[in-house]
Amino acid sequence: MARLVIVANRVPNPDEQGNPRAGGLAVALGDVLVPGTIWLGWSGARAAVTSTVPRIVEDRDVTYATIDLGEADYRSYYQGFSNGTLWPLLHMMPGLTTYHREDYIGYRGVNRAFAQALAAMVDADDLIWIHDYQLLTVAAELRALGVQNRIGFFLHIPFAPPEIFEILPPAKEVLRALCANDVIGFQTEGDRTAFLACIKALLEIEPLPDGRFPIDGREVRTIVTPIGIDSEGFSRLAGRAVLRAETRRMTESLVGRALMIGVDRLDYTKGLPGRFGAYERFLASYPQHRRKISYLQIAALSRSDVEHYDELRNELSHKAGDINGAYSDFDWVPLRYMTRTASRTAIAGLYRVARIGLVTPLRDGMNLVAKEYVAAQNPADPGVLILSRFAGAAAEMTEAVLVNPFDVDEVANAIHIALTMSDDERLSRHDALLAKVYSSSAEAYCTSFVAALRDVRGIPAIELRYGGSTIKMRA
Ligand code: G6P
Repeated sequence: MARLVIVANRVPNPDEQGNPRAGGLAVALGDVLVPGTIWLGWSGARAAVTSTVPRIVEDRDVTYATIDLGEADYRSYYQGFSNGTLWPLLHMMPGLTTYHREDYIGYRGVNRAFAQALAAMVDADDLIWIHDYQLLTVAAELRALGVQNRIGFFLHIPFAPPEIFEILPPAKEVLRALCANDVIGFQTEGDRTAFLACIKALLEIEPLPDGRFPIDGREVRTIVTPIGIDSEGFSRLAGRAVLRAETRRMTESLVGRALMIGVDRLDYTKGLPGRFGAYERFLASYPQHRRKISYLQIAALSRSDVEHYDELRNELSHKAGDINGAYSDFDWVPLRYMTRTASRTAIAGLYRVARIGLVTPLRDGMNLVAKEYVAAQNPADPGVLILSRFAGAAAEMTEAVLVNPFDVDEVANAIHIALTMSDDERLSRHDALLAKVYSSSAEAYCTSFVAALRDVRGIPAIELRYGGSTIKMRA
């Protein structure tokens, strides 16, 4: 029987059930992790050289296969080309983008190592699903090794329009390599449009109106499948978490004040300095709300050894100190800022008691915090989501209070609007958002991507067990 083979830079560690390292992805793919599935990725360990023979761990009949990265490859592939070049460029921040040819060579080498490890594991009818910007060229390496399976790729982050993408010196080569996939998936229509514009401008290929395009005698299909969450599960988790001692400790410490919460990786795309600036502006412009609000920002440390992340950490510590120094009172601290990670359960409980969810990235592929915040609310007394219009989630979640994160006055005003919103408006916005979070779920994401992959032409009929049900594959 055909299996699903997932390839992503990160692999969930089966021992870290509550707080998996692969974060949102492990949760989003939960439904397809049925017995027989394989997940290949980086072990998280650095060794003398990059391995191509994976270490295997079985957990509940799912095979987790991991390779180590050599120290030099870690620097060129992970720190360099993935996170120093592609990450800022695809988030449309060319000013933060650096490029070194040797990093690209290292990136291609690690993508090849992933392909070699994979080629030795797959059967002819397996479906291969590659994830994210770290692995843009794996499909091309697989094809070079003679792998003819159906291969799909999903980009979790934005795609940039040609004027930005062509800044990448090997732009055409990377695009061509990406086209070795049969199906390429994006979070939003905007990302797909940007990608197809690159295909047209840089490869001079005219895409069809439905997003397919021919290349080298084959056809590539592009789809839009926004990633989602297990809303029911998260909602239940939040309902239970609210009864836990740690959530109660939090509510007691608020002494009746409204909680505003932000939860992010400490990353410059998340717009945290601007968010702190907007909160400062809010405190200055709306003195009537002082002492009545408490803002908790959890910013989990991330990629500390990549350029710009350390500077950002210093900048935020500084700003947090300034805000608290200027506005704190003997018995009130306006901003609680922590760089430690918190458990999923603790966060679910905090979302539920928070009056405002503040999600203001400068650019974001999707942003699952926005969806989780909505799912966690008590439907009878929900909080208000303030959402950046530059997060992929904004394409769907139009009933949030949408803001331009570059405009501190607009964000400050949105906080005031959220605090003073009528109950009717709060309820009706939440109902609409909740319906969307339920329909655009993790399950819908997996189902539509796998369905597109299984539809790739010229492959014999197979069956794929999926989330307890069986999907029949067309011949
Ligand atoms: C984003 C990316 C993921 C990445 C995650 C954590 O969500 O889309 O591919 O895994 O950030 O970053 P890290 O560099 O720690 O894997």
